[in-house]
Amino acid sequence: SGVEVGTQLTVKFLGKPVFIRRRTEEEIAAAREVDLATLPDQNAENANLGADKPATDENRAMPGKEEWLVMMGVCTHLGCVPLGTKAGDEKGDFGGWFCPCHGSHYDTSGRIRKGPAPENLPVPVAAFDGDTEIVLG
Ligand code: FES
Repeated sequence: SGVEVGTQLTVKFLGKPVFIRRRTEEEIAAAREVDLATLPDQNAENANLGADKPATDENRAMPGKEEWLVMMGVCTHLGCVPLGTKAGDEKGDFGGWFCPCHGSHYDTSGRIRKGPAPENLPVPVAAFDGDTEIVLG
């Protein structure tokens, strides 16, 4: 409940960082404007959905609560933690997250857009319990 719009919380789950971002309207709109055919990874990479679901923003955000994006904060190239969690962090060319290790750019839906990372940041099993709590796993 303390996460303001446009900010993010990072928690640890199974020893790895999980980004919990409360997105702005602009970030959601930018994510939804993208032509899916241009995405390097066209799979939603969402453990809550079946395999081979398209990488639409709707398939990556929390169902019914589209401002919330929950995903592993581990670059899919070689496992660095991308920047973009704190105010003032570099967010890359697509306004989401930027991995400085080898230059991977993720968009406001956590999808890889540029650089060597092969896949979108994975969405773990996650569900809201009420309006203010998210259960992982
Ligand atoms: Fe992120 Fe290589 S580990 S770009």
